[in-house]
Order: sequence, then C-alpha cells, then structure tokens
Amino acid sequence: MKVLLATSNPGKLRELQALLADSGIQVLPQTAFQVREAPETGLSFVENALLKARNAARQTGLPSIADDSGLEVDALHGAPGIYSARYAGPGASDADNINKLLRDLQYLPMEKRTARFRCSMTYLRDAADAAPLICEGVWEGRILEAPRGKNGFGYDPVFLVPERQCSSAELGPTDKNRLSHRGQALRKLVAQLTAVPG
Ligand code: IMP
Repeated sequence: MKVLLATSNPGKLRELQALLADSGIQVLPQTAFQVREAPETGLSFVENALLKARNAARQTGLPSIADDSGLEVDALHGAPGIYSARYAGPGASDADNINKLLRDLQYLPMEKRTARFRCSMTYLRDAADAAPLICEGVWEGRILEAPRGKNGFGYDPVFLVPERQCSSAELGPTDKNRLSHRGQALRKLVAQLTAVPG
C-alpha cells in the first residue's frame, strides 16, 4: 500500500516515517511530487488536516495522510493553537516562536504553565473521499522557562514532559514518538488502516 505524507515540515516527516517504518505502508513524501501547499484556512486542527490531505490527494492521485498539530497553552487561552507555526508572524522560525512564547509567559510560575500538544491525523483514500479516517492525539506538559535540548523541532525545547522531567527536545526520537500527540494519533490511524475487515 502506497500512501503520500502530506507535509513539507522536515521534523514531522522524520517522525511520521519512523512511526510508519514497520507498518507495511510505503510512504512517499509530498516533496517528491512538487505538491503546492494548500493555504491553511481552517479554524480547527481537523479542518486543516483535511485541507492538507485533500490538496495532496488531488495533486498526486494518491491516498494521503496529513496531520495538523500545535501547542495549546492554558494561560494564553489555548494560543498559539492552530497558529503555532506562525505565532511570531508569517515566516517565523522555531526560535522566533519560542522567544515570543517565553516573553508572553514571563514571570508566570511553573504551576500555571500547563500546556499540551494536540494532533489531528487524517487519511483520505482519494480527493473525493467523503468518509476520511480521523484520529487525535494529545500530549500534556508544561512550558519551561528556558529552552533545553537539541532534538525534535518547533516548541520541543520548551515543552516539559512531566513524567520524564526533561524537555521533549531532550528525548530521543523513539521515546518522543512513543509519548507524543503525533505518535498517539498515527498509531490509532494505522490500526484502522491495517485492520482486517470482518
Ligand atoms: P502545522 O504544520 O500547521 O501543523 O504546524 C504545526 C506547528 O506546531 C509546528 O510548526 C510547531 O511549531 C508546532 N508543533 C507541532 N507538533 C510539534 C512537536 O511535536 N514538537 C514541537 N512543536 C510542534
């Protein structure tokens, strides 16, 4: 089974490819097909994930998996949420976004820095699929006061994983995939995709 991975984010791509390595699903990155990215105009994670998967399926004719994910910070009423990639403005780097987040949370004590990563993972058989598979994952943590660790991408250096007392950028890739929002959502999706009917 060949499936297109509808993301151009190298960090996500690495994680998704590792998670699917033993699934029997052959994954192709959308960068190999010069897929033009869809504008993320949805107002929810699931809407944006569907937009990305449908865009890729339409341009390639292949079944497509897409995720939309982001960080929700309780003290910011759920921001940056679906705007996580562009929190510090259009074209913001991971460092820009982290710096803005740390400024916004300055002086906030640790017990009030609760946050979570959320992921919607979608699978479309083709661009006209009216019954897509949709799976969700949530990873609870807190926002650190300063970055720690070099692994991962995005907000990983400032996301405290309470059960490990380290940042998610200090976890190895296997440990992050075992715990993360994306790992949870993709495992559920693969279970549905590979389930034998009847
Ligand atoms: P998307 O590509 O529109 O789904 O944007 C997702 C954004 O959320 C990323 O660019 C990161 O800023 C953030 N994000 C999502 N998942 C993770 C993660 O696993 N670690 C760190 N940041 C993440």
